[in-house]
Amino acid sequence: MANPKSEIRNPKLQKLVPLLLDWFAANARDLPWRRTRDPYAIWVSEIMLQQTQVKTVIPFWERWLRELPTIEAAAKAPSAKIHKLWEGLGYYTRVRNLQKAAKQIVAQHEAALETCRRRGDESQIKNKLKTPHVVSYKFPENFGDVLALPGIGRYTAGAICSIAFNQPMPILDGNVIRVLTRIFGIAENPKEKLTNTRLWQLAEELVTHAARLTPSRSSRREEAHSKIRNPKSEIRTGQSLLTSSATFTGDCSALNQALMELGALVCTSRNAQCLVCPVKKLCVAFQENRVGELPNLGKREAATARRFVAFVVESNGRFLVRQRPAGVVNAQLWEFPNVEVFAPALPLGAPASRRRVADVFLAGLAGGTPTLPGQFPRPQKLEPLCTIKHSITRYRITLEAWRAELAHLRAGTLGTVPARNGSQAVNVPGRCPAFHGKWLTRAQLHQLAFTSAHKKILGRLGQRR
Ligand code: ADE
Repeated sequence: MANPKSEIRNPKLQKLVPLLLDWFAANARDLPWRRTRDPYAIWVSEIMLQQTQVKTVIPFWERWLRELPTIEAAAKAPSAKIHKLWEGLGYYTRVRNLQKAAKQIVAQHEAALETCRRRGDESQIKNKLKTPHVVSYKFPENFGDVLALPGIGRYTAGAICSIAFNQPMPILDGNVIRVLTRIFGIAENPKEKLTNTRLWQLAEELVTHAARLTPSRSSRREEAHSKIRNPKSEIRTGQSLLTSSATFTGDCSALNQALMELGALVCTSRNAQCLVCPVKKLCVAFQENRVGELPNLGKREAATARRFVAFVVESNGRFLVRQRPAGVVNAQLWEFPNVEVFAPALPLGAPASRRRVADVFLAGLAGGTPTLPGQFPRPQKLEPLCTIKHSITRYRITLEAWRAELAHLRAGTLGTVPARNGSQAVNVPGRCPAFHGKWLTRAQLHQLAFTSAHKKILGRLGQRR
């Protein structure tokens, strides 16, 4: 961390900071997590905002805080509940880590209380219980302790410590990288180590300078900013700034959020609004007409197309679903049975070939590892339901869903998907594990957390009989 007392020698940084702060005070969006300084609420927002847009996050964040208003509630919630609250946000490792960290915070706090009790140190217990927020478990304020929590990297720890505790800790995410590479005309790829280090350094110098601004200058901005952060409208009593930031008088929270906000609203990746940018006079990319070239993110890896076939299997009014195992993408979420198909020669939407794919997979579900296609039990009804297209990381996925009705299929009889079936249409690499499914009613399905693509299938199912 830069020494807050050290001089900022770069005059450009000195000019940038007040411009950014004034612009933020006048233009910041009124986002619900900006109405609080509760570190728990800010932490939840930062985790949700990773890889997810602000407008998507807002209802999820509001619902999460309504249902799990404290760290203790998040720590105690059943796994099914936290997954259901996260359903649709994707990247579910985030929510599992969030809960792991909440459990750790609660456990550490209780251990500390126990130590005080054993020592008979009543005043320490009173102090520990007298936390300033309604959350009775104290969120760590030390940057290193925050960083040590599961699922929290340098960016998130910096965001929490600066936004909730007003500490001069830098942040560097995609938006901030775009803003800084353009302002400073940095043409090297920000993923390269040296360039990345330089960007973190710039972010640190900026927030350190904000911390050193005189209280009178920053308090005027605080006043303007209180339109957003009106203590009366806080959803809970936040951690007092005075308790955590006695040594930092300037507004580190606003400076970091100003960088993010400028990247989100003005310095966007396409159609940057340079003419209304508060720092255009200082921006190298604008002055040199290089805005479109920066940041230099290198060549994007081409997306790979993948194709899956899913089956909505119904028997006696119940549907067959399974929970994805630990250690895979979307672990613990629910889905309809499905299989990846490797059949580039099959034109999508060609009914005969699609039917062959569907037949083969169903047969695999029902009968173990058959050798001859003719031995497969046939579904009573088999019809295409919908095709879902979505992208996960670098995969462009097409998921074809089929509806099937089977009279005599039971979960216990489900075997493995055949690896070789005499047909070139389906190729399942390796052996599939035994199918562990559940037969559930439509109402029960709606209680579960499904993967986003399979939730869409469920939605389509709801529209039909
Ligand atoms: N993106 C990441 N953190 C954010 C925040 N606190 N406000 C708006 N957008 C963000």
